[in-house]
Amino acid sequence: MSEPRKRVAILISGRGSNMSALIEAAKAPDYPAQIVGVFSNQPDAGGLQVAASHGIATAWRWHKDYPSRTGFELAIADVLKLWRPDIIALAGFMRILTPEFTEKWKGRMINIHPSLLPLHRGLHTHEAAIAAGDKEHGCTVHFVTPGMDEGPTILQARVPILPGDTPDTLAERVLAEEHRIYPEALALVARGAATFSG
Ligand code: GRF
Repeated sequence: MSEPRKRVAILISGRGSNMSALIEAAKAPDYPAQIVGVFSNQPDAGGLQVAASHGIATAWRWHKDYPSRTGFELAIADVLKLWRPDIIALAGFMRILTPEFTEKWKGRMINIHPSLLPLHRGLHTHEAAIAAGDKEHGCTVHFVTPGMDEGPTILQARVPILPGDTPDTLAERVLAEEHRIYPEALALVARGAATFSG
């Protein structure tokens, strides 16, 4: 008998195009994970409606309603208790998580970042890659650790930076690769083919 599919919660803050890529991938009968819920820290995140239209449970808690990062994370944890995920996939989730939270989910929480880590951590990566004169740019799926955009890499994809590229044209090229590798990386983690090794 095949292994039960791993339960995945996705955390978003915005349009959720990576979330959509994961939802689509998980429709394949042989995909090793199922999306059990989508959570946002922004009540008006476009991705919430998209997820709901696929019949997926959604929830939001506005981080500004909580006096501390820890208080907000306790609210996330309450939602996760209902969904019982095995894995958390961050997909454009724009909140920094505390070491307590990342430690609890160590090896079971992944993120997609739009750069070839360790290059260009943080925001505005497309601008940064162009400004640095890089010839290549890309995206990375990695395990989440306390340091922002620092955890072990699961998959990377590269794209060229072309003459005349703007941050927008480059972002579009990178995003197509994000949508390709995030489902692949989640499948690797769900199958136990990619594991956290420090
Ligand atoms: C993506 O570029 C992702 O790599 C970054 O935030 C963006 C989110 O886009 N972490 P979307 O909400 O998945 O469309």
